[in-house]
Amino acid sequence: MSKQASEALVPHHVAIVMDGNGRWAKKRFMNRLVGHRQGLEALRLCISQCMKRGIGVLTVFAFSSENWSRPQEEVSGLMELMGKALTREVPRLHDAGVRIHLVGERKALSARLREGLEQAERLTRDNERLILNVCFNYGGRWDIVQAAARLHEQGLPFTEDNLSSAMAMSHVPDPDLIIRTGGEYRISNFLLWQSAYSELYFSDILWPDFDAAALDAAIEDYAQRERRFGKTSAQVSDQDDAC
Ligand code: IPE
Ligand code: IPE
Ligand code: MG
Repeated sequence: MSKQASEALVPHHVAIVMDGNGRWAKKRFMNRLVGHRQGLEALRLCISQCMKRGIGVLTVFAFSSENWSRPQEEVSGLMELMGKALTREVPRLHDAGVRIHLVGERKALSARLREGLEQAERLTRDNERLILNVCFNYGGRWDIVQAAARLHEQGLPFTEDNLSSAMAMSHVPDPDLIIRTGGEYRISNFLLWQSAYSELYFSDILWPDFDAAALDAAIEDYAQRERRFGKTSAQVSDQDDAC
């Protein structure tokens, strides 16, 4: 494949369920939180690799609506890690031209964490190199319900367009590629609405081990897919020929 053709096949929006941190730590007889810390390192690598590959939007699932049910020690460790990550990573991300968005129910977060996240959003709002959506206290069902409630409040009809505009990710197009690491083949309440036509890619690699080569393998796999959006294969190749 020519370089130009392969560039055209790079997904614009990649979303990742970063799963497997706990098992990564367990395999090493360490606390699960060590795995989460290592997961943050993997995320840092992944962000820079996305920029190298020309990906425009990266959405990561960092904490789900359901993750509150984990042991108290893990939940507070994750909150603390998020706070530390903000202090440590945001200046670097800002310098690299990354625009940060918090996607999720903010009300349940501590005032300190919420302010940190909102400050990161304000600081980076004019950056254009990469949009990074951090799904934190996020659930696909929460998103659909909050969007519907918003339409109801505004007295707007429940159409696909209106609902899409009221969703928490209305600032970006739907993900082209959704990656889940950690060997589980499920969605776990991630991007339920937005994943309607995303290509799905499952990797057995535990998230802390997911490196640049693993991301490249996912992009390579995506490049082989034929996205039909309900049409026939012949229709899609006719369209390509017309380009
Ligand atoms: C994903 O890793 C990170 C979060 C859910 C916060 P896990 O913590 O779910 O890791 P496993 O699945 O137990 O290995
Ligand atoms: C999904 O992983 C959530 C995140 C990666 C933040 P989980 O580990 O929570 O998913 P389940 O419980 O295995 O479905
Ligand atoms: Mg998990």
